[in-house]
Amino acid sequence: MDRIDTAYYWQERYNRGDIPWDIGYPSPPLMHYAGQFPTTTRILLPGAGRSHEAIALHRLGYEQVWVCDWAAAPLEYVREQAPDFPAAHLLQQAFFQLEGVFELILEQTFFSALPPRRRPAYAEKMNDLLHPNGRLAGVLFAQPFPHEGPPYGGTAEGYRRLFEGRFNIHQLQLSPHSIAPRRGNELFIELSPRHSS
Ligand SMILES: C[S@@+](CC[C@H](N)C(=O)[O-])C[C@H]1O[C@@H](n2cnc3c(N)ncnc32)[C@H](O)[C@@H]1O
Repeated sequence: MDRIDTAYYWQERYNRGDIPWDIGYPSPPLMHYAGQFPTTTRILLPGAGRSHEAIALHRLGYEQVWVCDWAAAPLEYVREQAPDFPAAHLLQQAFFQLEGVFELILEQTFFSALPPRRRPAYAEKMNDLLHPNGRLAGVLFAQPFPHEGPPYGGTAEGYRRLFEGRFNIHQLQLSPHSIAPRRGNELFIELSPRHSS
């Protein structure tokens, strides 16, 4: 098993404060997109980390925001920052064991944290978790990295091949809302399950 495919690896990184992916505030591409949805929308952030977006959406009145991460430390951060965030919505568990149905799933640096061999399983699991009219949306790195991951990048063409069998691809282009260090290297994706209208 890859060491990155364990909760222990990620918890250790939080323990060391070695979390360069954490931008420290709600991600503009994710917030911009999620803001179009009603506050009753059932939203999941998988591999959510400190989940600044979940906290921000909660404060905006979104009542059905669910956070999944298998490391304890980032969920503890959410508890500290937002004591009124519903405890039952903080799911400390493995993504591939997750159950439920969500209308919106928000992706940011979770896909790139998985061993690349897991990508077909990621696509399948996302498809299972999505409401028939739901959306998987967020950002993926636009280029491969010249070093061993995580993060693992990719290309628009590779992502298209991965997703097109299972999803309708509504958006797959460079995000205009990326933060400066990621601008030009972040694709915004918006996908819906193939069987939806
Ligand atoms: C690179 S961090 C990204 C965190 C957050 N999405 C962000 O953008 O700040 C990846 C997160 O995914 C979690 N993770 C990785 N594999 C996981 C899995 N199979 N199940 C649940 N969480 C997982 C890690 O614990 C870590 O918090």
